[in-house]
Order: sequence, then C-alpha cells, then structure tokens
Amino acid sequence: MILGIVLLVLLFTPLSTPLSAHLHTSLHTSLRTSLRTLLHTTFDTLIRTNATTTSVLPLLSKTLRSNPSIFQSNTDRKYFADNLITASNLRIRYSHHLGLTLPPDSDSESALILNLHLNDELNEEMKISLSLNPSLKDLSNYYSFPISIIKILHKIYPQHEELKAILETTNSPGPISIRLNDPTYIPPSYTSKIADKVYVLPPSLRSQIMKNTDYISGRFEVQDVHSSKVLEYVQGNKILDLCAGRGGKTLGIACTLNNNTIDCYDIDKDRLKGLSSRISKISQYIKSEVNVLSEVTDNDYDCVLVDGPCSSSGVWRRWPNARWEFNVSKLPELEQNLTDILVEGMSRVKKGGRIVYCTCSLFKEENEDVVRNIDWKDWSKVNERRFPLNDEGDGFYVYVAKKIK
Ligand SMILES: C[S@@+](CC[C@H](N)C(=O)[O-])C[C@H]1O[C@@H](n2cnc3c(N)ncnc32)[C@H](O)[C@@H]1O
Repeated sequence: MILGIVLLVLLFTPLSTPLSAHLHTSLHTSLRTSLRTLLHTTFDTLIRTNATTTSVLPLLSKTLRSNPSIFQSNTDRKYFADNLITASNLRIRYSHHLGLTLPPDSDSESALILNLHLNDELNEEMKISLSLNPSLKDLSNYYSFPISIIKILHKIYPQHEELKAILETTNSPGPISIRLNDPTYIPPSYTSKIADKVYVLPPSLRSQIMKNTDYISGRFEVQDVHSSKVLEYVQGNKILDLCAGRGGKTLGIACTLNNNTIDCYDIDKDRLKGLSSRISKISQYIKSEVNVLSEVTDNDYDCVLVDGPCSSSGVWRRWPNARWEFNVSKLPELEQNLTDILVEGMSRVKKGGRIVYCTCSLFKEENEDVVRNIDWKDWSKVNERRFPLNDEGDGFYVYVAKKIK
C-alpha cells in the first residue's frame, strides 16, 4: 500500500530537475504511460538480455525518436539514454532502498528506479553513510554489485578506498578509444591522441563514432587503450593467436607488424568467420600474412598469444548485464580451462620464443592463479603487468615468458 502511494506520487511528480530541465513540454498522462513503458522495455532489454551499452543505444534512440513531443532534441535523447543505462547499472542500490525484488517486473517499478536515480539526494545520503565504516553488504547495495562478486574483489583490493574506486569505475561509462588501421587517417577533431595510432573520445560521443563512415569502411577500429597496449608484447616473425575470436587483437598486430606471419585459431568457428570477413574488409592496411587455421599443427612459433576466455570482469562497465549473469562458483572451472589453454599455447612456442598470456579479467583466479598453476622450469619470466580498470582503459592482465630450453 505504502509502496503504491510512493509509486503514484513519484510517477505523477514531474521528473526531477536535470531531465525536466531538458524537456520542453510538460508530460501529460498518455505520454507518461509511454514513458513508463519505454523505461520498462529498456530495463528489460538491459536486464534480461545480454545487451551491451552500444547495442542498447540504437534501440533507445529509436524509441526516444518515436516520442518527438517529449524528447525534442538530441540533447534530450542523449541525456535520457545515458541516465537509463546508469540507473540500470545501479538498480540494486535503488531496489534495495525501495524494498523491491529484482529485476523490476512492472513499468512502474522501472520508472521508480529511474526517478530515484535522477534524485541525487538519495545518492548523497547513501554516500555519507558509506564514508563511515561500510560493510561489504553496504558496498554491494551502494555500488549495485552482487555480494558474491564484492567478496571476490575485496580479496584483491583489501583497502576499501581501492575497492570503491573499482566499483565506481565499473558503474561509469568507459572511455572510447580508437586504433588506426590506416596510419594516414586523421581522426575527427573531437578525439585526442594518447599513443601512436591510438586516440580517445568522450563516452558521450560513442554513437557518433560508431556511425562514422571511416569506421564503417575500416580505417580505424574501436579498441580499448589497454587492449592495444597488450599487443606491444607480441613480437616475432611467426605468431600464433590461439584464441583469436573475431580478431580484435589479431587485426591490431596485423596492421602494425611488417612482413610477419600471423596464424589465427579459435575453437569457435563462427567467430573465425567474423575474423575472415574483417580481414578482407581492411586488407589494404594489413602488413603481414594472416592465416585463419581450422586446426593448429605447428609448434615452432616465435610468439603465441593466449587471450583466454575469462569472466571479462575488466570490461563489465561496457556490459550492463554481465555482473548479474556471472556466477562466482564458475571461477574454478574458468581457471582450469585457462590453465589448459595456456599449456597448449606454451607447447607451440619454439626455443627462444615467447608466450603472451592475457585476460580482460580483474580476478586473481583467472590471472595470477593460472600462471601459478604452470610449471615454468623451461621458461624465464619477461614481464607481468596488471593494467588497472580506470578512466583511461579497461582492466587487463598480461604475463610474458621466454622459452629458454
Ligand atoms: C577473450 S576472447 C578472445 C578475444 C580476441 N582475442 C579479441 O581480441 O577480439 C576468448 C576466445 O577464446 C576462445 N576459446 C575458448 N576456448 C578455446 C580453446 N580451447 N582454444 C582456442 N580458443 C578458445 C573463445 O571462443 C573466444 O573467442
């Protein structure tokens, strides 16, 4: 009953200042109804499907455009879309506060969650209580993470301030960076250069870059800065990309290294098909020979890259749904699988060559623990690095070793 009253009051109170400041008409009942449905549809898409922020945006944009009397300008649409996505990321926080069970199962509950998100007072109030001595449960509520994941992260980041920074970052849209395939390409003026052939742009311009015709024609790729940095460890004439997927890393290597041979393999043949079509699309920028293998037979590689299948926790900010779908009880299985693939990769390296193991995971179980499972007696360690999840790039781990016997 009380919840019902709160719902009614909130739904028929003009939306709080930031959004209403962008609205040019007051919302009459029929528009409110479509707004509530829209909220629910979006939440549903984010919650129940494996949607990425990028894949949900076109849906949002289409729906917002179909309500031109509410969302008159691009600014309105962008503002609303960004808030919907963030509110969805933070839905544990708001559901906890409202006593709702997740996921919200009605238009009204979805609308309530967005309303609370737009109401900064609650965020401020919770922030104050968090600054005292928060329990892991407080962190789970405030940052909207399942407690099981908070516990795992707490082991890696025992200092609360560090842990809070990671959780906060995962709740914010990640920066967008691009890596040039065509070295002569001059990127749009809203990007800034941060490394050779790597540029960043504000997250708010992500839809603009995805529509850019030079992106569509393959002159550049959207690739995280830290992911591009991992590629710097890959070197040698004959390279094997053992978990090539659709080729995010392969293409980076192929457009950078001259006159090398890069063999690509993945257990998932559909992903390899995607890789083959990406290779054809950007063939004029590829400087090495790239072969897509149906099986790996050679064991004389100068370098084997193992970009293993992991939880992807270092890139969860780009997948609003991932933290809810991930089951921590799967970690031992993931660790064993990653260890097996790393052993397989190592067996393909020739004497004097190197293995480059990397993941986009924050979890020790998929990084340091995998490396610790290996017998390194014929190897010498070259490097081990954690690229932190931060405002610059996603969370990555890389371990590099040279085969000495
Ligand atoms: C993190 S993704 C690779 C992403 C890719 N390197 C990129 O940069 O776009 C991990 C890949 O490992 C593949 N994989 C899983 N098990 C494998 C195995 N036993 N052997 C080879 N590839 C495997 C998955 O199909 C998936 O494409």
